[in-house]
Amino acid sequence: MIIEGSSGLKAGELKAAAKLRYGMVGGGPGAFIGDVHRKAIALDGLAEIVAGCFSRSPENTLATGRALGLAPDRLYKTLEEMAGAEAKRTDKIDFAVIVTPNYDHYAAAKAFLSRGIPVVCEKPLCFEEAEARELVELARKNKLLFGVTYCYTGNPTIKQARELVKRGEIGEITFINAEYPQEWLLAPAEKQGSKQAEWRTDPKTAGKSNSVGDLGSHIENMISYVTGLKIKSICARLDRIGPGRVLDDNATIMLEYEGGAKGVYWTSQVAAGYDNGLRVRIFGTMGAIQWNEETCNYLELFRFGQPNVVLSRGKDPFYPHAQSFSRLPSGHPEGYFESMANVYKTYTGALVKQRNGEELTETDLDFPNGEDGINGVRFIGKCVESSDKGAIWVDF
Ligand SMILES: NC(=O)c1ccc[n+]([C@@H]2O[C@H](COP(=O)([O-])OP(=O)(O)OC[C@H]3O[C@@H](n4cnc5c(N)ncnc54)[C@H](O)[C@@H]3O)[C@@H](O)[C@H]2O)c1
Repeated sequence: MIIEGSSGLKAGELKAAAKLRYGMVGGGPGAFIGDVHRKAIALDGLAEIVAGCFSRSPENTLATGRALGLAPDRLYKTLEEMAGAEAKRTDKIDFAVIVTPNYDHYAAAKAFLSRGIPVVCEKPLCFEEAEARELVELARKNKLLFGVTYCYTGNPTIKQARELVKRGEIGEITFINAEYPQEWLLAPAEKQGSKQAEWRTDPKTAGKSNSVGDLGSHIENMISYVTGLKIKSICARLDRIGPGRVLDDNATIMLEYEGGAKGVYWTSQVAAGYDNGLRVRIFGTMGAIQWNEETCNYLELFRFGQPNVVLSRGKDPFYPHAQSFSRLPSGHPEGYFESMANVYKTYTGALVKQRNGEELTETDLDFPNGEDGINGVRFIGKCVESSDKGAIWVDF
């Protein structure tokens, strides 16, 4: 299979060796993120989809499988059937991609990990921290690479930001201000036929939180990735602004980090004028960094007492690791697909190296993983706990 003759494989070499095979759970007709994953994986041609259970409806799975040109015997009625059957095949999938709504993540990840199949799962990893820990332990015990697609950290500008912070370019971090506003749930979309809104606003399918789970978990992962800060305590107020909503669609979160830095996060799905306004601002004793997902080819670097700088991906010199994730010359926008593709490029590269029996370095493992998944689930739980107790400070 993939193993043939290479070591220290890079993307191109990997392709030459042979493609990995993957299967997908979720991503049926009209689904959002499943198709993003398929296209992102296809961008580098490192893996091909060969199996799937794309929907709870077998007809929808068949329709999606047919459209993707998959063999009918690799289209499955349930994820359990898929995990069981794939594990027995000699040409079984090399990894499973889980892109269902949140409520199925735990069962799906467990089904594949327990049968020795590596997993890439969407965020939030699951509902409960204990479940997340169980999945990570299962992956560790079975020596399986476990990815969780906090995809924004695949962006080269974010890798650059991380490196700048690590090298002390903005001094010691003192304050974080991060926000993720959207406007789409200003309408009662969950009552107007939007599947995505339906499951996100229902605790049975979304979990304990809507906006903190959907958006806040991205912020938590992004800040932890770029700064390395560990949260010490949290004070959160989760709001239900849309009439009749059971779960939050807006949230304000104050944080204290170990070492003394402070932060404020804001998530909203009812913020008029905002499409996908993920913005992070990291302030230090010597400067600051600002990044906005909608203009993600640029990174703003402010050094106290010096002119402000806008670093342009593809034009300005980036540190080599960050640079290696940039694909196009400057001015040709890279964004969401490429960031997701970068997560997969690293993940599949690590899979191949692992199979070749090679030692995996920190660089090889620079993709969001199960530990990040645990942290995300813990973050959501702590925000809900704080809010439910009257927006009091709770230890993290
Ligand atoms: N990383 C990101 O930027 C990002 C963005 C959007 C969504 N997400 C995450 O991706 C997941 C899916 O979100 P979405 O917006 O694509 O949802 P969606 O409703 O658009 O799609 C979900 C798909 O899963 C299928 N499905 C549900 N249960 C299933 C089961 N048991 N077996 C097989 N298929 C099943 C549905 O039929 C549908 O095709 C969520 O966990 C969400 O938080 C992440």
